[in-house]
Amino acid sequence: MEDHSIYTTSIQKITLKQIQTEGRILDIGGGGEGLVSRIGGTKVCAVDIRMSEIREAQIHGPPANWFVGDGQALCFQENVFEVVTLWFSLGYMSDWAIKQRVLKEAHRVLGENGRLSILASRIPESCERLIFWGHFTFPDGTISQIGFGTRGGQEQTLERMTELLLGTGFKIRFHEDNNDWFEIQAVKI
Ligand SMILES: C[S@@+](CC[C@H](N)C(=O)[O-])C[C@H]1O[C@@H](n2cnc3c(N)ncnc32)[C@H](O)[C@@H]1O
Repeated sequence: MEDHSIYTTSIQKITLKQIQTEGRILDIGGGGEGLVSRIGGTKVCAVDIRMSEIREAQIHGPPANWFVGDGQALCFQENVFEVVTLWFSLGYMSDWAIKQRVLKEAHRVLGENGRLSILASRIPESCERLIFWGHFTFPDGTISQIGFGTRGGQEQTLERMTELLLGTGFKIRFHEDNNDWFEIQAVKI
């Protein structure tokens, strides 16, 4: 019998773009597949709360800088990063108070006009668990097919995330709704 409490997406084809910057990139929740580290390499400081997830990302061998830490209390000074990325990691922070604290920390460590790049799954309120299937194409043509399992019920939507960003000192530069996932490019004000 079908389990209605689990929402499973179809395979989402996602083309990952190069991250345009000469400066430093902070990737929050950068373990797992290490998507950002595999694109940004030595420019990237990847923070993850679980060492096991960092080990998993290191399997792909990206020359990133790895930090075990909580995005809610980053070990970095103010205004030191040009770009902060949250690629499919906000869904692993199921409590909205945690998402907000992490975005506040992103704001603090970003420099003037610093950029925030969010890729996130839409997590309906009506499910207990979400299984998000992604078919990722990297700028160098490499392919990764991954399933991300997160807690359901979060009502993580483009609209709600936009509201949170506007309330945390960001302005939206670009957004795109792809139904089961969304993208937001924002700038620190
Ligand atoms: C599974 S990864 C998926 C996305 C990841 N960016 C990638 O490229 O695969 C999401 C990560 O967010 C991490 N995470 C969850 N809450 C966190 C927090 N408060 N601070 C830092 N990392 C966190 C989890 O440990 C998990 O490894």
